[in-house]
Amino acid sequence: MTVTVGIDKIGLYVPQYYIEMTELAQARGVEPSKYTIGIGQDKMAVPPLDQDVVAMAANAATSILDEQDRLAIDQVIVGTESAFDYSKSVASYLHELLALQPYCKAYEIKQACYGATAGLQSACDYVRLRPDRKVLVVATDIARYGLGTPGEPTQGAGAVALLISANPRILALDSQSISYTDNQFDFWRPSYSDVALVDGKFSTELYQDCFCQVMASAKQAGLSPENWRNVVFHLPFTKMGKKALDALAQKGSVDADLIERWQAAYEPATRLGRQVGNIYTGSLYLSLLSYLTEVEDLAAGDSLGLFSYGSGAVAELFSGTLQEGFREALDLAALKAHLERRQALAVQDYERIFSQRLPQEADYQVAHQSQEAGFVLDKIDGHRRYYRQY
Ligand code: CAA
Repeated sequence: MTVTVGIDKIGLYVPQYYIEMTELAQARGVEPSKYTIGIGQDKMAVPPLDQDVVAMAANAATSILDEQDRLAIDQVIVGTESAFDYSKSVASYLHELLALQPYCKAYEIKQACYGATAGLQSACDYVRLRPDRKVLVVATDIARYGLGTPGEPTQGAGAVALLISANPRILALDSQSISYTDNQFDFWRPSYSDVALVDGKFSTELYQDCFCQVMASAKQAGLSPENWRNVVFHLPFTKMGKKALDALAQKGSVDADLIERWQAAYEPATRLGRQVGNIYTGSLYLSLLSYLTEVEDLAAGDSLGLFSYGSGAVAELFSGTLQEGFREALDLAALKAHLERRQALAVQDYERIFSQRLPQEADYQVAHQSQEAGFVLDKIDGHRRYYRQY
């Protein structure tokens, strides 16, 4: 018997603060249209010090979990490339903060922005074998390149929580997929650096190449791109997926009508990312959420492709089918309110927050900068991080 498995719930957390890209452009002496059109970003999320990757992940997951989920979740898997500990996983903190059942396993996956997709695929495999159980996958990241760098307008922060179950209410995922690995230095972050190192132009070329590579082998892998209504992309900035589609069109290896259909359908999937920025592991799922909430004539049975990319580089192309009632399973009003609650920062306040660091050795009470209910990093005591729920 084939078990239908996939995304049953999606939770989003974005920090309370953002900066307008037009203001950032003016402060950097750049034409605002370079950021808003050339790169395709309007706002960039700015996390205060008390919203680290654990707090953001807990806030994203709390928004979707109920008591039954907590008892049924057998694994919590975190994808992140912003972790603060080489040993203890973000997932282990989450297990406690979310009050998950004690026999649940918790671990973290790292492969740049691809990590959460590896977690998602592993979660689906697990649930296919145990359809009465669930897995929580959380993508949580803070994208940092540095003040005044070319990467600065492509920063952002946020977390996406995905509850994986049998008979999912949102998107059933197909078991076929195609992955591609190419060991490169397009974007990476050595352990001694708190900002990413990036070969910007090369990174955009490698992304496009990886997309063309997986598309070239999609059919042999059992995927059916001709049936996909659209492809949603990992979006480090909203122009990136468009560049990938243009590159595919230039190759001439895929039917031009198909690419034109995806190009025409591209924009709605970028709307949330345009307001938040790059959230690394969660960006693909932010695009998915954007597409599902912004396109009114989507229907159950519509099939979608998803392109996941993690620098370094690993890519995966996979697909899913929208389920009956998917709209009701997405809390559109809550999503809208979550984005509208945010407050704009002046450039100097963003720069001050960006430059704040947690002390490495001293015990430290973290200022409660998030002026809202939810989880925050409260203090560091004996090198241990402690969280608090307001
Ligand atoms: N009005 C409109 N457009 C303008 C403009 C203006 N006044 N001025 C410039 N532009 C356009 C340029 O023509 C260019 O468009 P195209 O790419 O379509 O040619 C675009 O704005 C960007 O300008 P530049 O080419 O001058 O690029 P830049 O030096 O400012 O850097 C970047 C852009 C490489 C993306 C840089 O922001 C960066 O390094 N970002 C981080 C790396 C990144 O996100 N890479 C993406 C692939 S890697 C990945 O996906 C993993 C991940 O999450 C990081």
